[in-house]
Amino acid sequence: MNTKKKIGILTGGGDCPGLNAAIRATAKTAIQIGYEVIGIRNGWKGLIDDENETLDSFNTSGIIDKGGTILGTSRVSPFQVENGSQRVSDGFKKLGLEALVVLGGEGTLTIASQLFKMGLPVVGIPKTIDNDVKETDYTIGFQTAVQIATDALDRLRSTAESHHRVMILEVMGRHAGWIATYAGMATGADAILIPEIPLDGEKIEELCQVLKERNKMGKNFSIVVVAEGTKLEGKTIVEPGFDISRNERAGRLGGIGKLLGGIIERKTGLETRVSSLDYIQRGGTPVAYDRNLATAFGVKAVELIIDKKYGEMTALKGNRITSVPLQKVAGKTKTVDLNVYKIAEKFFG
Ligand code: F6P
Repeated sequence: MNTKKKIGILTGGGDCPGLNAAIRATAKTAIQIGYEVIGIRNGWKGLIDDENETLDSFNTSGIIDKGGTILGTSRVSPFQVENGSQRVSDGFKKLGLEALVVLGGEGTLTIASQLFKMGLPVVGIPKTIDNDVKETDYTIGFQTAVQIATDALDRLRSTAESHHRVMILEVMGRHAGWIATYAGMATGADAILIPEIPLDGEKIEELCQVLKERNKMGKNFSIVVVAEGTKLEGKTIVEPGFDISRNERAGRLGGIGKLLGGIIERKTGLETRVSSLDYIQRGGTPVAYDRNLATAFGVKAVELIIDKKYGEMTALKGNRITSVPLQKVAGKTKTVDLNVYKIAEKFFG
C-alpha cells in the first residue's frame, strides 16, 4: 500500500510567465522530503472532474524557463458549478491529499479562501501579470509582463519618431494600472493612463494640450501608455458585445486605446496610431526575477504545509518571503501606489 503523504498543486485563472517555475519548485521541494505530488489539471475543474497526473522529478525538470503552465488552467469556479465545492472536496479526498497548493490571482485565491473556510487545507501562491493581489509587493508574472511592455514601447518609440506620430499602447492589468505605470516609467512615456485616475473631459483636454505642446517644441512624436481598465467618463471599456456587469470576473476588458486614439487625433490634429499588446504580454519565457520569486514562493508553500499553516498565501514584503492569511487577500484589489505613479509623472510631456 502507498503510505506516502500527498499534496496537490493547481493553477487557476489567466496564465502567466513563471507558473512552471513555481510548479517545479513546489513539486521538487515536496518530493525531496518524501511527499508524492499530484498535479491537478485545468484549475478547480481538475478536482471537480478528477483530471490529474503525478508530478515527479522528471516531468518537473527543464520547465523553469517555460511560459504558460504544464498543468493547464481554466476560469472554472466551483461556486458556479452544481455541487462544485462538494465535488472539489470529494476530489481532494479521493486523491488522498493532505493539502492543496493553489497558484492563482485574486479570483482563484478568493475561491481558495472560501474553500479553506469550508475546511479544505489550502496554501496560496500569488501569480498574475496584473500585480493586483493584496498583501504582496509582487506577484509571479508581473515583472515579465512589464519587460514585454517595455520592449514593445521601445520599438513603438522608433516608429513613432520616424513618422512624427502619437503612439498609444494599450496594456492589460484589469482594474489596476501596474503594468502601464512600470512599463511607462521605464520608457519615459509622455502620459500613463491608469484605472486609479479616471479620465474625464478635463483630463483629456490636459492630455491633448501636453501632446500639442510637445509638438510645438519640436518633439514631434509622443508615447501614451493606457491600461485596459482605465475608465472613461466613469465607464470601463469592454470588448464589443461583452456585458461586463453580467460576468465581471471573466470580463474581457479592452478597447480604451482605440477609443482614446480617435479622440486625441480629432482634438489635436496629430496623426495617431494605436497598438494593443493583448495576450503577448502574458506568454513566453519568464524573466529571471519571476523565476526566482516563483522558486522562493514554491519552497515557502511547502514550508507552510509542513507547519500545517493552512489558509495562508506566500507573500513578498520588501526582500522578505513571508505569508499572510488568504482572508486578507480575498475579494480585494491592490491598486497602484500613487507615490510610484508620481515619480513617472515627473517625466510626462
Ligand atoms: O488577469 C490576467 C489578465 O491577462 C488580465 O490582465 C486580462 O484582463 C485578463 O486576464 C484576460 O482574461 P482572459 O484570459 O480570460 O481573456
